[in-house]
Amino acid sequence: MRLVIVSNRLPISLEEQDGKIVAKESVGGLATGLNSYLDSLDQDSQFNEDPLWIGWPGMYLDDPDRFDFSSRIMGKFRICPVNLTDAQMDSFYLGFCNSTLWPLFHYFPSYVEFDESSWDSYVEVNDIFRQVVESVLQPDDVVWVHDYQIMLLPEMIRRNRPDVSIGYFLHIPFPSYEIFRLLPSIWRTRLLQGLLGSDLIGFHTYDYSQHFLRSVSAILGLEHNLGKIMVGDRLAKVDTFPMGIDYNKYAQAAKDERTQTEKEELRQSFGSAKIMLSIDRLDYSKGIANRLQGYEKFLELYPQWHDRVILMLVVVPSRTGVGKYQEMKKQIDELVGAINGRFGKLNWTPIIYQYTTYPLRELTMLYDISDVALVTPLRDGMNLIAKEYIAAKTENKGVLVLSETAGAAIEMGETLIVNANSVLDIAETILRALETPDEEQARVMVLLKDRMERFDVNHWAEDFMNSMLLIKSEQERMEST
Ligand code: F6P
Repeated sequence: MRLVIVSNRLPISLEEQDGKIVAKESVGGLATGLNSYLDSLDQDSQFNEDPLWIGWPGMYLDDPDRFDFSSRIMGKFRICPVNLTDAQMDSFYLGFCNSTLWPLFHYFPSYVEFDESSWDSYVEVNDIFRQVVESVLQPDDVVWVHDYQIMLLPEMIRRNRPDVSIGYFLHIPFPSYEIFRLLPSIWRTRLLQGLLGSDLIGFHTYDYSQHFLRSVSAILGLEHNLGKIMVGDRLAKVDTFPMGIDYNKYAQAAKDERTQTEKEELRQSFGSAKIMLSIDRLDYSKGIANRLQGYEKFLELYPQWHDRVILMLVVVPSRTGVGKYQEMKKQIDELVGAINGRFGKLNWTPIIYQYTTYPLRELTMLYDISDVALVTPLRDGMNLIAKEYIAAKTENKGVLVLSETAGAAIEMGETLIVNANSVLDIAETILRALETPDEEQARVMVLLKDRMERFDVNHWAEDFMNSMLLIKSEQERMEST
């Protein structure tokens, strides 16, 4: 058997440098997580052939031969590009994916654009993915489709290849029916039918699974029994698989001798001030503005903390072509300026702000050095930053402040949970985090480290694959009776 991963973004992004096409590692939880899983697959796994990863390579190649995709670029898998033009990406990726589905599924209905032409592009691009998948598909392949950019794909593949094994995983929230139903009738129907082309449909949390099942019942009139749905005469299953991280990768990068030396140097440069870390892709769903307002409120309420705390704010550039993201960037820039201007002194700057991407080693150093991590999205499917922070801690110190509307909060209930919509709640929780005694920090850290290590990305993927096998054998039993 061979595993075929399909996702919008490949784990590499191509760039043109001095007339040459070079590959860089893609950032983001999906790409790095799956990459680790594929690398971990060994001879004993159910897959005895090199896995294949199909997706968009980050740029349009007028001549696909300008880059050698047949060689193993990274890891133990092979890569197959879906070559999309800039115009297609504008209308599909910036348009329907990130100006319609993304805001809707993250409960920002007023940000949603309802544009027929971008829906048409979504259908068109999903069909281009189908053509690429079909062109490489072998009889025993297991196809694992990922995320909201290609929700129509499972059903499209199924139409021509009824026997193929297809799994689907959604990396963002599936919203409640009242939100999902805001989509025009044809769109919402086709999106659900698209996913139901899979044998197994996975979500991060039980709530997302239930929201999906409710929409399937209300919109398609299909009922389920313990997550099992009959789609015509075929059985499909819906289940919950909370995604983990490559725990050891983060833990080891943090322990690296060079990382530790640099950490100590940086620590000294801050003196005795406590360091709070905020790091996210630039996205309105991440609640960065609310977090800044919460920090401002904290400085206002607790002046005794002035000089004694620094917020390290790292904002990772993302989807810069979408208007709402540009507005968000402007708002963050202004808030940082206002807070530093209001509270800063000659020898103390309340916020150190960087708009950049950090490589893994430096990233783990930032996690490890931080006394507090503020992970306060307004809505997040899972949030892997919260898990990375725990994995990268080399001593059992540090406090995670986590939003109740992040999927990760369900698995990390021992940490400080906050309502990210409430500026006051953020301010008060910052105080609690800074005042958490060392023993309590250690107690929670040990628990969470153990859990994050056990339920890592490999556990998540293996759990999904085992469920695929179970559903396949159940389908076979049904067919033979
Ligand atoms: O969280 C959903 C997701 O698609 C992740 O898989 C990805 O890491 C992130 O959003 C950024 O996505 P992109 O840069 O491909 O739009």
